[in-house]
Amino acid sequence: MKKYFTTAISYVNGKPHLGHAYEAILTDVFTRYNKLFGHDCLMLTGVDEHGQKVYDVAVEKNMDPLEYCDSLIPDFTNLLKASDVDYDIFFRTTTDSHKKNVQAILQKLYDKGDIYKDYYEGNYCTPCETFYTEKDLQEGKCPECGRETTIIKEENYFFNMAKYADKYEEFLNTHDDFIFPKFRKNEVLGILKKGLRPLCISRKKEKMPWGIEIPFDKDFVTYVWFDALTNYINGIGYLTDDEKFNSYWSGAVHNIGKDILLHHCVYWPTMLMGMGLDLPKKIVVHGFWMGEGGKKMSKSLGNVIDPIGLIDKYGSSSFRFYVLREMSLGHDGVFTKEFFINRHNNELANDFGNLLNRATHMVVNNFDGIIPEPAKDPTKETLFCGVLKSNVEIMLPQIKQYIYDFELNKALDGIMKIIRDTNKYMEDTAPWKIILKDKKLCGYVLYNALECVRICSILLSPVIPKKFEEIKDIFNGEMPTELVFGKLEPGKKINKAVSLFPKIDKEKEPVKIKEVVQDNLIGIEDFGKVEIKTGKIIKAENVEDSNRLLLTEVDLGNGDVRQIVAGIAKFYQPEDILNKHILVASNLKPATIMGIESQGMLLSIKKGKKLRLVEIDEELPLGKKLV
Ligand code: MSP
Repeated sequence: MKKYFTTAISYVNGKPHLGHAYEAILTDVFTRYNKLFGHDCLMLTGVDEHGQKVYDVAVEKNMDPLEYCDSLIPDFTNLLKASDVDYDIFFRTTTDSHKKNVQAILQKLYDKGDIYKDYYEGNYCTPCETFYTEKDLQEGKCPECGRETTIIKEENYFFNMAKYADKYEEFLNTHDDFIFPKFRKNEVLGILKKGLRPLCISRKKEKMPWGIEIPFDKDFVTYVWFDALTNYINGIGYLTDDEKFNSYWSGAVHNIGKDILLHHCVYWPTMLMGMGLDLPKKIVVHGFWMGEGGKKMSKSLGNVIDPIGLIDKYGSSSFRFYVLREMSLGHDGVFTKEFFINRHNNELANDFGNLLNRATHMVVNNFDGIIPEPAKDPTKETLFCGVLKSNVEIMLPQIKQYIYDFELNKALDGIMKIIRDTNKYMEDTAPWKIILKDKKLCGYVLYNALECVRICSILLSPVIPKKFEEIKDIFNGEMPTELVFGKLEPGKKINKAVSLFPKIDKEKEPVKIKEVVQDNLIGIEDFGKVEIKTGKIIKAENVEDSNRLLLTEVDLGNGDVRQIVAGIAKFYQPEDILNKHILVASNLKPATIMGIESQGMLLSIKKGKKLRLVEIDEELPLGKKLV
């Protein structure tokens, strides 16, 4: 059967972080394992570009929202590349084909009567891009992220989720393994028991234009969930390539974080039922990465982990191994540098690295690098050989099953156990002693050790793909890939393993991961490129259809008058800013905001929910460059 693995698509309102890296690596690992086991697989990841949050940041940066999204895409693709994530599809919700599909889906549901217009008043949480009722709020704040919500009163379009609630509940009760881990299913059943409210799926274009136009009402846009969730089907050819869609959709597995359970395990299944489509095969819900002491990661606490920084320093394989091994899939995990170093040193450098070194060095030093003959009948000739082989033969199908069941931790435990057992086997048999008496018997032992090296390397290859390429060099590119004990061919030449996982010297490492906080430093040459000039606002008016933007004209002296669109209408009336002496970033590329060209940016400072323009002494001449 074909399989299809997806990550949630990331908001582009900032740089990607550890959570994004983890989810992409997790999804990549499941895809790679299934490919290894012979399945035809696709992996999708991407970005969720529309919505209030992205729009707000773009306006704040004085950029056209699409141009702003474009500017952040390399951050996301670079992280995927650095993390060795081998995706097939990088989905963007701003593509024309996606927008067309979203409109077709909306039209279909509207024609069926599942979408209708109604008056709405609710509390909107912008960071979560989700509406909540008064009852949902906890101490007046968003129940998910704890931040302030905004009251939104407007006519809107709604999707009647409740119509499919019974059918979905029945589905859940007959598909016990639809949600992983199983305890999340009860949470979803709890939500269904409370009753499903109609889902608000639109915003008035004049208030928030950064979405996909509703096909049956041009004054509205849809964005975030109705737009974003459909990426999963649109990415594999829904309505455009039936064959591809039909062959992959039935094997779809969504990997998501626990904060978007409601959206994926309630909104999405009811939407799919409305569209008349099958539900995905599985939804895997992972926990959150926390910082030191189990605290939420935040810049102010200085415990934010920069994945790129760690990968650059210690390599992608150690990073991937750590995040997959340390986090028990489905539960929260704590990321600290100390834990990271311990995992690397104990399991990769000591356990796996030592096995690789010992086995290959002994074969090169005593057998001229030629893989020795195995025992013909291991149980008779040497008792040890048989035990090791049958142990691996018992564990191989178990490990495979754990992976099929998404029990990644148990699978990794199993692989690490084979590695430790093989190390113990080496210590118990002591081939360095046997070689002095019986070279043939020593060869049997080393064959077994090498065979375990081969099998464990293949089993770990989805986790440490880059290092696996180096391990293949030990076998001169002639490593059999079957996961069957005894496939290693005697008589072939191997090389010594070079130190693949050098130990990290804890003493020489800074305890805190300080470098991440400093990842935004720039050189004076970069700063010198920015031109900030003194100016005076000589004209200001509201931008039609926008409650956020003011259109200004700013005099920069010497006849240089700029037209600048500023996202400050919530904080200033046009008359408040007229004749103000301010600072302008004057050599920015012009941006088009709501169809108006903006030729610079007014400098301002945010304080909580307020924003103030940076004002300067009126005595200062216009057009002077900040030095
Ligand atoms: N855009 C939505 C998803 C739409 S999917 C149709 C979104 N984006 S996000 O950028 O906020 O989050 C992307 C993924 O990263 C989510 O699955 C989220 O749970 C995950 N993580 C965000 N922070 C995380 C941690 N600290 N730890 C682990 N994963 C977390 O939600």
